[in-house]
Amino acid sequence: MAAVQVTETLPRHVAIIMDGNGRWARKRHLPRQAGHVAGVNAVREVVRAAIDMGLEALTLYAFSSENWKRPAIEVGALMGLFRLYFRSDMNELIEKGTRVRIIGNRTRVDPDIRAMIEDSEKRSTGNCGLNLTFAFDYGGQEEIAAAARELARAAMEGRLDPETITPELMSSRMFTAGLPEPDFLIRTSGERRLSNFLLWQSAYAELLFVDTLWPDFGREQFLEALKQFTKRERRFGALPEAVA
Ligand code: FPP
Repeated sequence: MAAVQVTETLPRHVAIIMDGNGRWARKRHLPRQAGHVAGVNAVREVVRAAIDMGLEALTLYAFSSENWKRPAIEVGALMGLFRLYFRSDMNELIEKGTRVRIIGNRTRVDPDIRAMIEDSEKRSTGNCGLNLTFAFDYGGQEEIAAAARELARAAMEGRLDPETITPELMSSRMFTAGLPEPDFLIRTSGERRLSNFLLWQSAYAELLFVDTLWPDFGREQFLEALKQFTKRERRFGALPEAVA
């Protein structure tokens, strides 16, 4: 198999750090929550576009484990929007064949949100359309640490030979097990950081940082980003063919 490939195809798994809601609101002299409300519309547009394009997987960073440190009013607004979004959009998405997953620590969210998440996951288990994943109360380092803890426990109890721990085994212990690794990671709003998002999974992802604030990132911007991906050459550590 050639290690070098020019991607003329679409990515299989797009992951997005949806950033810039607060700045979008500030520019309009609105409360930060208004930026999150506008951000939900961008979520809708991008999810719809991903379905139309026939993408295999889309993962959206909706709430990081650090976001709990924000003022209670903002945390409450984000939780409320998550609830509203699930109640208003999930039935239709599931009917369209979307498979829904939520990755993160679900012990800290309100019980009704947990029930809603579990219900959507259960109802969409057999679906074969877009794999739509929301990272919610998610942190990448903690995800890796949890996988390490689980494997260490298995080794200590004699159920696992430490020599058999491979990257593939680690991947199978991540929340995203069963999904292809993200091959394209987009962050909006001009910041150039990963902010603890899919650290393990993004080892070979193409990164794209765009200046657009998330609420202004719609279908058109998403399609433009996908076009950027198709132009990139992916080498996975190998040399370009012309040099090799
Ligand atoms: C970052 O903007 C965005 C978030 C912390 C949350 C993302 C949430 C949404 C897009 C809306 C709710 C989502 C769903 C799925 C219903 P920021 O507040 O950090 O912006 P700033 O950096 O400009 O302050």
